[in-house]
Amino acid sequence: MPTATAETTQQSTDESLVRTVESRLSRRTFLRFSLLGTIGLLVLEALAGFFAFYTPRKFGVFGSKVTLGDPKSFAIASITTFVEAKLFLSHVPEGFLAMYWKCPHLGCTVQWHPEEPSEDNLAKMGRFHCPCHGSIYNRYGQIISGPAPRPLDLFKLTVANGKLVADTSDITQRKHWEPNQATKV
Ligand code: FES
Repeated sequence: MPTATAETTQQSTDESLVRTVESRLSRRTFLRFSLLGTIGLLVLEALAGFFAFYTPRKFGVFGSKVTLGDPKSFAIASITTFVEAKLFLSHVPEGFLAMYWKCPHLGCTVQWHPEEPSEDNLAKMGRFHCPCHGSIYNRYGQIISGPAPRPLDLFKLTVANGKLVADTSDITQRKHWEPNQATKV
């Protein structure tokens, strides 16, 4: 029959064993979480580096402000294409229009055709023509024919340090051409 001292010793040994197991478990859990945390951080860092590398810096390209140049360098009735900004700069007697080249019908890229007959009285030749479904626009971006529901959209246009600047993050839709849409210089 076990004595009281032996029972006490046995109980103490059991408690010590439990503490050791708990200690190992908690250390193992801690190590596991540390490892997972470290891996998580490394993955986040790699993802951040990936996106930083592949995300284009927005400066002077579509989605940012783009300097178009000295207003004096654009003749009346001229159309100038800025590919990176995805816009046409049109100089009409009322001022300047920076028009988004995306067709308001289904989004195709509208093209300037200087060899086609004009649809305005500013010049004999030249009009915008959407290659997808044939919408035709004049130098004001006004829809002349085709399925497009409205004129070409406008980017906000300002003058800074004597240069025309289009903000290609600021787009305005319009129902009709109106003279106050042009930026006077
Ligand atoms: S997308 Fe331009 S006319 Fe349809």
